[in-house]
Amino acid sequence: MNVIWLDSIDSTNSEALRRLADVPSGTVIAAREQTAGRGQRGNTWFTQPGQNLTFSIVLKFEGVFPVSRAVWLNYLSSLAVAQFLRSFDVSCEIKWPNDVYVGKRKICGILIENQLGGGGLASAVIGIGININQKEFLQLANATSLSLCTSKEYAVEECLQRFLGIFEELLPKVFEDGTGLFDAYSSQLFRKGVSARYYDILREEEFDGVIRGVEPDGRLCIIDAAGKCRYYHFKEVSYIL
Ligand code: BTN
Repeated sequence: MNVIWLDSIDSTNSEALRRLADVPSGTVIAAREQTAGRGQRGNTWFTQPGQNLTFSIVLKFEGVFPVSRAVWLNYLSSLAVAQFLRSFDVSCEIKWPNDVYVGKRKICGILIENQLGGGGLASAVIGIGININQKEFLQLANATSLSLCTSKEYAVEECLQRFLGIFEELLPKVFEDGTGLFDAYSSQLFRKGVSARYYDILREEEFDGVIRGVEPDGRLCIIDAAGKCRYYHFKEVSYIL
């Protein structure tokens, strides 16, 4: 993969989208500093300059890549991050749809932006922020970093190379039948089988439930107190931590 390191940029996802027509598939835009990092649900992603990994991977699809498989990109990227962290002996889980948690603390966020075309997905920008050396997270009570987990310091550029090695190994699986990715993802789900509290955004109510798993189409299934499975698309439920 061809990595372009930038000292400072608003957002690596925004930069990847601006350069989309000009760069080949497999290009990685990485930044030492993001001045307007973007997160899920319109949130900002703020991290201390030089301390962490913030990068975006451009994938372009030849032939038809069905939209229904977009969710496989979630599986791929969160599994690659989980494997990366485990390579440092850090145990972690994937919080649906694609955050990575160590215990109750978030260590990584992923923002995937897909472009439609040719009857399916034409391309995708996979934006990944992994906290590496940062020790203090002001106003973010539940954040952690690799360094906080292991009490060591890391060379951020080497971390990116290690991550990309893992990502590249997993990448062919999104062009196979997806079962392998789905099974691996399902087995690493945060809070699976554990009773916990959730907020149902559409019904505007809190409830207790147990995550049963994820459907092949990416919906989360939570069994409520009545024993009924409630199915959620992204942004329809939130975890009460
Ligand atoms: C989340 O809200 O959890 C997703 C955060 C995604 C942050 C990464 S950092 C690199 C890339 N560029 C961005 O602007 N966002 C993503």
